[in-house]
Amino acid sequence: MKDKIGRKIDYIRISVTDFCNLRCIYCMPKEGIAKREHKDILRYEEIITILKECVKLGINKIRITGGEPLVRKGIVDFISMVKEIKGIEDISITTNGILLADKAFALKAAGLNRVNISLDTLNPKRYKMITRGGDIDKVFAALDTSLKAGLNPVKINMVVIRGINDDEIEEFAKLTIERPFHVRFIELMPIGEGAKLGSESVVESDEIRAKVERIGELYPSKDVKNNGPAVTYRFKNAKGTIGFINPISHAFCSQCNRIRLTADGKLKPCLYSQKEFDIKIVVRNHPELLGRILEEAILSKPERHGFYSKDMNKSQRNMYQIGG
Ligand code: GTP
Ligand code: 5AD
Ligand code: SF4
Repeated sequence: MKDKIGRKIDYIRISVTDFCNLRCIYCMPKEGIAKREHKDILRYEEIITILKECVKLGINKIRITGGEPLVRKGIVDFISMVKEIKGIEDISITTNGILLADKAFALKAAGLNRVNISLDTLNPKRYKMITRGGDIDKVFAALDTSLKAGLNPVKINMVVIRGINDDEIEEFAKLTIERPFHVRFIELMPIGEGAKLGSESVVESDEIRAKVERIGELYPSKDVKNNGPAVTYRFKNAKGTIGFINPISHAFCSQCNRIRLTADGKLKPCLYSQKEFDIKIVVRNHPELLGRILEEAILSKPERHGFYSKDMNKSQRNMYQIGG
């Protein structure tokens, strides 16, 4: 269905847990977070019920996010359940990759189409620092195994942070030349821990792009599978592409196609929006009203985000509670 300014909403991002096996400095608090009780989290069956209503409204793409979605028990079976819903055309996941090498073949067999893997540095020591303890070799293994398993495309998300990893932009860009990796450079958003890093940590896309162009000329390219906000290019004859996700410098809200469902059962019309709709109560007590609450959420979608505006609400959720 269309929202109030005519944007076609055909994509839902579903966070299946806010828990994570890493604690990246721009996302999780140093001390980590407490595990939630089972009753506070939507059961897989409940998510499926909600998804079936989404399909009736024209949603046909789903992305599974976290926290880290692969830490939730039963995730492979959940993908199989999603795959069985008629009308879902694209199932993808955004993961930090730590558990992915072990699960890639099973996920593919269950019906997962593609993966976006978060990786902010290629340096093992730095990876440990940014993720507070992660083992980068597991992510490298995940990249290889995802290709072997036929998850396609394999995208790499790099959040660029000034003074932390902005000296690696060229190295990331080079990854796209020999192998079909699709690297996306993401501007740091002021959400949760990301906000604490301050606007001086944001590297805007023009600066990122200038560094990428030191490697070679960029040619506009159709994204291999573009449902999302990335603007995509490639080097001549490169196997992969380079995307820029620029929520700060070039807000892409006018083309937004998505809503979000949090692990604790709240519909969020926008990543930024404070307004949430409690769909957990509805699915548990009044499933006949699901269509109505979904419509209401879509119609309340704001025209654009207000990052760094005066009305930026400091009390909003953290990224791990929204799913990116
Ligand atoms: P595809 O294009 O379908 O591959 O996915 P995607 O790029 O939308 O999803 P992914 O989970 O890989 O997110 C990449 C980055 O884009 C993350 O930093 C997300 O927080 C950000 N992002 C995704 N959707 C939105 C959005 O609607 N608004 C904003 N501001 N950022 C978004
Ligand atoms: N700004 C931009 N991207 C972020 N992500 C997490 N926090 C932020 C932030 N503050 C990214 C993750 C992951 C995706 C879901 O969102 O790195 O790739
Ligand atoms: Fe859509 Fe909100 Fe993201 Fe803008 S910030 S692209 S409106 S979800």
